[in-house]
This record gives sequence, structure tokens and C-alpha cells, in this order.
Amino acid sequence: MRSCKLPSGAAMPILGLGTWRMGESGRRRAEELDAVKYGLELGYPMIDTAEMYGEGVAEEIVGEAIAGRANRPFIVSKVYPHNATRAGTVAACERSLKRLGIERIDLYLLHWRGGARLEETFEAFHRLRAAGKIADFGVSNFDRGDMEDAARLDKGLNGSNQVLYCLSRRGPAFDLLPWMQKRSIPLMAYSPLDQGRLASNAALKRLAADVGCTPAQLALAWLLAQPGVVTIPKSSSRARVKENLGALDVKLTPQIVAELDRAFPPPKGKQALEML
Ligand SMILES: NC(=O)c1ccc[n+]([C@@H]2O[C@H](COP(=O)([O-])OP(=O)(O)OC[C@H]3O[C@@H](n4cnc5c(N)ncnc54)[C@H](OP(=O)(O)O)[C@@H]3O)[C@@H](O)[C@H]2O)c1
Repeated sequence: MRSCKLPSGAAMPILGLGTWRMGESGRRRAEELDAVKYGLELGYPMIDTAEMYGEGVAEEIVGEAIAGRANRPFIVSKVYPHNATRAGTVAACERSLKRLGIERIDLYLLHWRGGARLEETFEAFHRLRAAGKIADFGVSNFDRGDMEDAARLDKGLNGSNQVLYCLSRRGPAFDLLPWMQKRSIPLMAYSPLDQGRLASNAALKRLAADVGCTPAQLALAWLLAQPGVVTIPKSSSRARVKENLGALDVKLTPQIVAELDRAFPPPKGKQALEML
């Protein structure tokens, strides 16, 4: 699978499995674990999780899914802002490593800004990196101004910024994405299917029928065609996990891109970053 480069030079896959809402109900655990394991069998090379998801249970599900695998996927996890103090970040990371059953998280993100001072969080990230507990670090839900603040503090090592970005919410394309592309910082697009809503969008359904793919595949292919954009659709269903991976085979012509722009117009000015 195609990958992109983090500022450290490490490779990061362009498509992964999301895990938000997993681990929230014991009744659904077996189905969620099965979906993650199936995704790995199919070749998803990355999983996105967080200590917040199911209050740690999503990380446990990921840990169970990757246990004993010869090639483990690239793992992204996130620290809660209220844990993101100098000592709190290190402790949260150690708890995540334990739940995931791994020695090192490939990319560790601050889930959103607003808890501890950013200086403290970055200091902890550097400490974790030096100790080999994380390979790279980054942020999430940072708008351009936040990224500029981060750039003053992170010693050029901020690996990524995970934000809400999809066909129906294109705000980041106005200034945040170009700012990040200029600095070769990958943007991780979360909720790429607008939490499932795009799959039933009438305009997208018509265009997908023309392309010969599903609406979800077209929405994902649109993201994957953009330089420096990585995405992480979530599904707990085997069929949809497989369908979403199929986005990698969708070829977008300039005509389809133009039609997508007509159906989902690009932003004409700055829009405040949306957050779920
Ligand atoms: N950093 C942050 O603040 C933040 C915020 C939100 C999300 N995220 C990350 O991004 C990941 C993805 O975002 P998301 O989970 O919010 O939304 P999403 O991936 O856009 O959509 C997930 C929803 O769409 C459904 N779905 C998946 N594939 C489908 C398909 N092919 N056709 C129709 N429906 C489909 C899923 O249902 P089924 O499971 O039943 O298939 C689920 O309800 C999260 O899981 C999480 O890892 C990060």
C-alpha cells in the first residue's frame, strides 16, 4: 500500500481502520474484535485508536487483534487532554502500551488542545520518544493557528494532525491542509464517511454508479487522491471493512473530481475547524 512520510522520515500508511465507538458495549465486543482481525487479514496496515475510545476497551480490542501477528500494523493512539501534563502523558502512554500489548506506539497524538500547556505535552512526547515508547508524535483537532503554536514548540517533530475532513466537510482544504502540505506534515482525515452519512448521499450515489464503485469507496478515494492525506474509516462489519479497503482501487478522472466539486463545493474562505 502507498505510504506517506512523517517529518521524522518514517513511513505512514495512507489507509487505516478507525475504532471510535468500539469497546463501548460488551454485547458488541466479539463483532468489533472480529472486524478488526478481519481488516488485518485483508491487509489494513494501520489502526487508529485512543485511550478515550470505550475508556481503554478499544485499545484492548486492538491489542487482542494484533496479539501474535508476525507483522503488526502501524498503531496510532491518543492521550486525553486532561492527562496531557508532563507526568500524566507518560503515565497515559504506559497504560495504552499495556492495553495494546506492544512496546512502542508508532504515532501518539494529543487528542485535542485544551488540557495541559502544550509545552508540557510536547516535553513528555520528546521524553517518550527518547525512551523508545513512541516512534513519532502529533496532534489532533488543531486548526492552523494551533499548528503555528505547535510549530514553535515541537522542534519540527510534530508528525501529524488528525482532523475532521471529508467531502461534506471540506473546511480544512482552505488553509490548514495547504499549510500542512507545505511542511510535509500528513493530515489524518477522521470521519471520512461523515460518520456513515455519505454512504446514502444521493449525489454521491449517482457519481459512484458512474465510476463503478460504492459511495463510501468514492468518498475515501477522493481523500486518498490528495497529497499528504491519510484516512481511517471505521466499521464493525466485515462487509464494510472490505468495501472500504476497495477504495484503494478506485481511479478518479479529472471529470469525476470536477463533478464531486460541483456536488460538494470547496470552501471559499476560512471556516473554523469542526470537531466531533
Ligand atoms: N481525533 C478525533 O477527534 C477523532 C474524532 C472522530 C473520529 N476519529 C477517528 O476516525 C475514525 C473514523 O471516523 P468515524 O468513526 O467518526 O466515522 P466514519 O469512519 O466516517 O464512519 C463510521 C460510521 O460509518 C459506518 N460505515 C463504515 N463503512 C461504511 C460503508 N462502507 N457504508 C456505509 N456505512 C459505513 C459505520 O458503521 P458500521 O461500523 O456499522 O459499519 C460507522 O457508523 C474513528 O473511528 C476514529 O478512529 C478521530
